[in-house]
Amino acid sequence: MKDLSGARTGFARAGTPMKHHFDQPPEGFRILPGRLDRPAQEALLADIRAVVEAAPPYRPQMPRTGKPFSVRMTNCGALGWVSDRAGYRYQSVHPETGRPWPPMPQALMDLWRAVANFPHPPEACLVNLYDADAKLGLHRDEDEDEFAAPVVSVSLGDTCLFRLGGLARADRTRSLRLSSGDVVVLGGAARLAYHGVDRIYPGTSTLLPGGGRINLTLRRVTPAP
Ligand code: SIN
Ligand code: FE2
Repeated sequence: MKDLSGARTGFARAGTPMKHHFDQPPEGFRILPGRLDRPAQEALLADIRAVVEAAPPYRPQMPRTGKPFSVRMTNCGALGWVSDRAGYRYQSVHPETGRPWPPMPQALMDLWRAVANFPHPPEACLVNLYDADAKLGLHRDEDEDEFAAPVVSVSLGDTCLFRLGGLARADRTRSLRLSSGDVVVLGGAARLAYHGVDRIYPGTSTLLPGGGRINLTLRRVTPAP
């Protein structure tokens, strides 16, 4: 499996304008293009189909306003990230079925062990389901109590335009394309970097029969022992 780790590779691949060529993303940002080959993507997709069957995707709402997300979500692992009028939080049960989240597939535990460089397992895997029109606004992953652990994110299906900013919302951002099988690690100084998904490019992958994109985000939530 190719591991073209390194921000410069990732950004060159994304076609960053030359005038920004020497700007570096926050330390600790890594993109592993094609970290999962097609058979690994298919196997992981089968795992996620089982997750989605046990824990049906739902449309979260923005805190306070109740405005619905364009992305549908579910989770696997001991804890799941949810959002509704009451706010953002982690909880151990699905907000609609009241049942515990399905366990995290072994392939995701293995991936974390291989790339996270953190001695304790992830506790939550947020499953984001994007159709052709879905986007995710610029945000930080900051609802966890353990920022020493990275966020590890897997892309499946159609390519997206991912935006990475800095540690402040107003910091300059960079855009890069994430394709099926790419893995992104937000660790170190990049752990709390702003990021979001600006658009999906329909028809860029044959992995999902109906098109769209799935993103899996692995996180450690509670303080490591
Ligand atoms: C997220 O920030 O939760 C998802 C990012 C992505 O879909 O790549
Ligand atoms: Fe995020």
